[in-house]
Amino acid sequence: MTDKYTQFVSSGLGKELARKLGLPQPVVLRRHAPGQPLVPGPVLVQGDTRGADELASALLSWDLDVRRHAVPREKLGAIVVVLDELVHPVDLEKPVLAAAASLRDLAPSARVVTLSRTPASAAAPAVSAAREGVHGLLRSLAKELRAGATANGIVLADGVNTTTPSTLGALRFFLSGRSAFVDGQLLTVTSGSGSPPDDVERPLAGKVAVVTGAARGIGAAIARTLHRDGATVVAVDVPAAGDHLAAVANEVRGTALQLDITGADAGNRIIGHAVERHGRLDIVVHNAGITRDKLLANMDPSRWSSVIGVNIAAQLRINDALLASEHFRSAPRIVSVASTSGIAGNRGQTNYAASKAGVMGMVRATAPFLATSGGTINAVAPGFIETEMTARIPFATREIARRLNSLQQGGRPGDVAEAIAFLASDAAGGISGEILRVCGQNMVGA
Ligand code: NAI
Repeated sequence: MTDKYTQFVSSGLGKELARKLGLPQPVVLRRHAPGQPLVPGPVLVQGDTRGADELASALLSWDLDVRRHAVPREKLGAIVVVLDELVHPVDLEKPVLAAAASLRDLAPSARVVTLSRTPASAAAPAVSAAREGVHGLLRSLAKELRAGATANGIVLADGVNTTTPSTLGALRFFLSGRSAFVDGQLLTVTSGSGSPPDDVERPLAGKVAVVTGAARGIGAAIARTLHRDGATVVAVDVPAAGDHLAAVANEVRGTALQLDITGADAGNRIIGHAVERHGRLDIVVHNAGITRDKLLANMDPSRWSSVIGVNIAAQLRINDALLASEHFRSAPRIVSVASTSGIAGNRGQTNYAASKAGVMGMVRATAPFLATSGGTINAVAPGFIETEMTARIPFATREIARRLNSLQQGGRPGDVAEAIAFLASDAAGGISGEILRVCGQNMVGA
């Protein structure tokens, strides 16, 4: 599960060799560590709108070194480009080219973040074109950045501005090492809900979180990350994984619940366990998932039904129980794990891709039902993640799959967990019905 190539080309000799041979040159990404500065240098805020001024003031209150104009040859930790008043595509030129002049000054693992308005609500074609233009620009820029730097965009829905709590929450996430493997993505802030964290190192303090499929892989990483961020964790997995499950639950000082999530009473057992053992339930992470790959021409009913059953039907049934429960009404959070296979499709994975695209459809349609209780539901869609599952892929196929993204490496289970922890936090209370890819800007398909 280790990427020895990335380690090799990060050394002096390996770096030189890869450069001479024209091989991929992935770098070791800057990931979150407690107490670490948010960004690796000053933050340049580009844009001359009121929204840009207000955002710059907000960033100053985070104790960041904020610049409103570039200082020649100064290494930058981030460039934030505020594009919140575009009315025509020609408006892009000034702020974008101003930001371009500073791109060569970005430090390794630096960040570029755009803030723009949603094209969905623009009635005038020129306004829509300008706003949509930001998306193409952002995705292309992410492919141009080097040395672990990423570019992501925050899209403001109607009524949302540059200092709305979840705009700032998303910006903090994108600037930080928590988003190391999120690249080329646009995340919409859908409402003014949400609140800033009391403690940025422990944003989930006091929350009780259930994580399914927590005995290993990405689920175990989610349990660890939610615990690190202050949550009390209920780790759920099938009885056959009992020993591993107990080990994870002990490690995070939470409790274990042996449960097959496809059971008819799974939702009520989850609620019952959380409330009886921990007094409440705030967060449910639907992570458990399986693959049973076969070309559709060779697909048998059991492969098809087991994947649909675990990956989407169980989530729908558990959500019905959660939405009906009086114990899940205080700004609750649901985060589901989808997959880039559900977006781009993958040969041999019609069943899996149907289930994961289904997760995304479920998330979008469930969001309004949770809004009445101040709740949110979102999904993360991982790309190539270094787990036991991907370690079993034959060497050559694995090497190609893990390099086919802008960061030229696979993500870690912890990278998926960081995105989930963010979406589960109060700071993300204004983000619902959204899909966030954690894929290093995977180049396969969409
Ligand atoms: P994994 O196979 O290592 O772990 C999945 C866990 O879910 C296991 O502990 C398993 O026992 C549990 N589980 C399976 N069926 C269950 C059931 N009926 N009830 C309760 N628990 C059950 O998988 P991994 O790689 O950690 O993946 C986690 C999630 O991330 C899955 O939803 C997967 O589809 C998704 N994903 C993984 C990617 C990767 O590169 N590894 C890429 C994209 C998505």
